[in-house]
Parts: sequence; C-alpha cells; structure tokens
Amino acid sequence: MPTSSAVEHYWDKNVANWKIAADLEAGTQPFFEEVERYRFDKLHYLPNYVDYKAYAGQSVLDVGCGLGTDLSLFARGGAVTTGVDLSKKAIEFASKNFAWRGLQGEFAQMDGEALAFDDNSFDFVYCHTVLHFTANPAEMIKEIRRVLKPGGSALLMTINRSSWLYALHKIAGLKIDYLDAPVFHRFNYAEFDSLIGPFEQRELIVERFPVRTEVHTGFKAFLYNRCFVDLYNALPKRLIGKTGYHLLARVTK
Ligand SMILES: C[S@@+](CC[C@H](N)C(=O)[O-])C[C@H]1O[C@@H](n2cnc3c(N)ncnc32)[C@H](O)[C@@H]1O
Repeated sequence: MPTSSAVEHYWDKNVANWKIAADLEAGTQPFFEEVERYRFDKLHYLPNYVDYKAYAGQSVLDVGCGLGTDLSLFARGGAVTTGVDLSKKAIEFASKNFAWRGLQGEFAQMDGEALAFDDNSFDFVYCHTVLHFTANPAEMIKEIRRVLKPGGSALLMTINRSSWLYALHKIAGLKIDYLDAPVFHRFNYAEFDSLIGPFEQRELIVERFPVRTEVHTGFKAFLYNRCFVDLYNALPKRLIGKTGYHLLARVTK
C-alpha cells in the first residue's frame, strides 16, 4: 500500500489541476470562482443533502478540504470552520480561498487517519471525494466518528464502482479523473454501507447521474452530450437508481 507521503506528493501536484480553470492562474479569485461554479453545476444535487447555511455558530471540520471550496460555503453560512488536508499545497490554496473572500477559518496540514483533535470536538464533519484516496478509509471513518460530538453528524462521500461512469469507462474508455492517484479504492453500495458501519445512524444516498461535460471535446464527447446524458436520465429510477457515480452517507454519532 502506498505511503501517506506518496498520497501527499500526488495531491500537492494535482489539487489545483481543474481542467475547467486551466487557463486561469491557480490561487486567484477568478480561478476559485470558476472552480466553484463548475463544481456546483456538476454536483447540483449536493445542496439537497447538505444545508451549508444551517451550521451558524457550530464547529465544522472538512477532512481533505482540497481548495476549501465547500468549506467556504459553511463559513459563508456563519459556521466556525476548520479544514485539514494531507497536502500542504491544498492547505495553502484553501487559506488563499478564504482570504480573498474575507472569511475566517483554521487550516492545518494533517492526516485524516490521525486527526490531532480531542474526542467530541465538532458538531459536523464533511468529507467529500477523499475516502477512496486515503490509504486506510476505515481508519479515517474511525477518526471522523471520534472527533464528532455525541449527536453530531457527518456528510461522507465516495465513488461507486457499480456506476454508469465505471461501465462507460470499461466499455468506451471514458476517462475517470485521478485514476492515476497512488490510492484509488473502488467501493460498491454494500461495501460503503459496511465502511460507515461504526456510526449509530446512517442514511445512504446514490447520486451523480450523467451531466453534460464542459471539459471534454471530440466525437466521443459529442455523442455523450447529445445522446447518452438525456437517454440515461430518462430511464426509470427503479432501474438506474443505484448506478450513480457518487455514494453519499449522512451519518450521526
Ligand atoms: C479529489 S481531492 C478532494 C478535495 C475536496 N474535498 C473536494 O471535494 O474538492 C482529494 C483530497 O483528499 C486529500 N487526502 C487524501 N488522503 C488524505 C488523508 N489521509 N488525510 C487528509 N487528506 C487526504 C488529498 O490531499 C486531496 O486534497
């Protein structure tokens, strides 16, 4: 299994590699604005499951905060925010992101599998697109639960290997981002359900059905945008309901 320093090194190089903002200087206001626009256009479902404005005055921890895009939404809603990431570059970018927005937040380079916080410290923990990239996801889950206050809750997310995107990847060679990462676990619904087993209450959600791509071009992208996206989404939910690319869990300690 690759070490945490291999994971750190990879994300130091890749955390700001957003194709959509490739012609903008990383770390500038236009860059952060474009990343946020694109992210929430593609992940339009996220605000249905997380009310970013509902944590005013409460402590929110983002494990693997990356550029701090999502954490800044909690901060804009008045939460007391902390972001940690294994990547030093990610922490630098997240701090810059908060600075230009005039937001307050604590940031630290830290391994989410060994959080340097006391037990029962946070009201809410957010962990999006991280569990499959860490060496030992079960350790991260244990740590997230440990630092949550009793009754506190978390939003966890990973990717679904039994999804339409994996199928297209296998059949048509559709690209999956970060497949070259030193760690890339591939969970299915049952495995993710078992991973989050330590939490007292769990709600599993499958999301991220096909949306049009802005970053890919060429014939494959044309076919994908013009045919596949609408056809797939028109299929009955009872058939495709568990094939979304994202597995989310709302959990409570
Ligand atoms: C794809 S990025 C996601 C960033 C952000 N959460 C988002 O959704 O935009 C994955 C992030 O997880 C971080 N990461 C991976 N393993 C980690 C660990 N053990 N502890 C903390 N961060 C970790 C990486 O450094 C990287 O910034």
